[in-house]
Amino acid sequence: MKTSIQISASILAADFACLEKEIKRSQAAGVDRFHIDCMDGHFVPNLTIGPVIIQAMRKHTNLPLEAHLMIEHPGDYIEAYAKAGADIIQIQAECYGPRRNACRAWDQWPKEVDTVDVKSLRGDLRRIKNLGKKAFVVFNPGTPLIKEVLDDCDGVLIMSVHPGFAGQKFMPAVLPKIEELSRIFTGGIAIDGGINAQTAPAALRSGARILITASYLYGAADPGKAVRDLKKIA
Ligand code: DX5
Ligand code: ZN
Repeated sequence: MKTSIQISASILAADFACLEKEIKRSQAAGVDRFHIDCMDGHFVPNLTIGPVIIQAMRKHTNLPLEAHLMIEHPGDYIEAYAKAGADIIQIQAECYGPRRNACRAWDQWPKEVDTVDVKSLRGDLRRIKNLGKKAFVVFNPGTPLIKEVLDDCDGVLIMSVHPGFAGQKFMPAVLPKIEELSRIFTGGIAIDGGINAQTAPAALRSGARILITASYLYGAADPGKAVRDLKKIA
C-alpha cells in the first residue's frame, strides 16, 4: 500500500471574511493543497464561488489550487478558472450525459447519470490539460465509474456526499467504487465529503490518496493536529 497521502483544505467551511488569514492558518497546519467548491445553484442547490475568488487566493499561496466545478456547462468556464490561477480543474461527469428521471428537472438533486457523451467529456478533459492544468473527473455518489475517460484524467474525485454543502455525513456506499478504481487507475484518487479521523481509515483502505476536508479541518480547535491525525492514519 502506498503511504503518501495529501490533505486538501476545502475552504467552504473557512471564514470567507478573512480568507488570507485562513489560507495562512491552513498552510501552517500542514495542508498540501486547497479545494475550492464552485457552485452555480443549478447543478447543486447552493451558490458559492467564481473565478474571482481563486484569483484573489492565488496571490496568497503557492500550494496547488483545485477548482471543483459543481456547475452546469463546465466547459464554458474552463478557460476562466485556468486564467484565474487554478492548477487542477475538476469537472462533474453528470454534466455530460442524460440525467436519470429522478433528477431531470432543473431543481431536482442530486444529479446522476449512467452514461455520458464520452467525446464531449474527453474533449473538456483534454482542453484542461492543453491549458497546462491537471484534469480530474468527478463522480457523484449515485453515478457509476465511467471508465472510458480514465485515460484522459490526471485524477478522479469520488464524492462521498451529495454535492452542495459542507458538513454532511460520509456515505460508505461509495467505497467499493474507489476500490474498483484503485485496481484499474494509476492517477490521483480523491475523496470529498464527510472526511474526518473516523471516516478516513476506510477511505484510505479503499485506495483514496487525496483527502478533501472542510468541516473537520476548519471546525478543529487545533487544525495542525487535525491534519497530523489524518496523515498518521496513512
Ligand atoms: C460538497 C463539497 C465538499 C465539501 C466538503 O459539495 O464538494 O468539498 O466542502 O465538506 P465536508 O468536509 O464538511 O464534508
Ligand atoms: Zn468539493
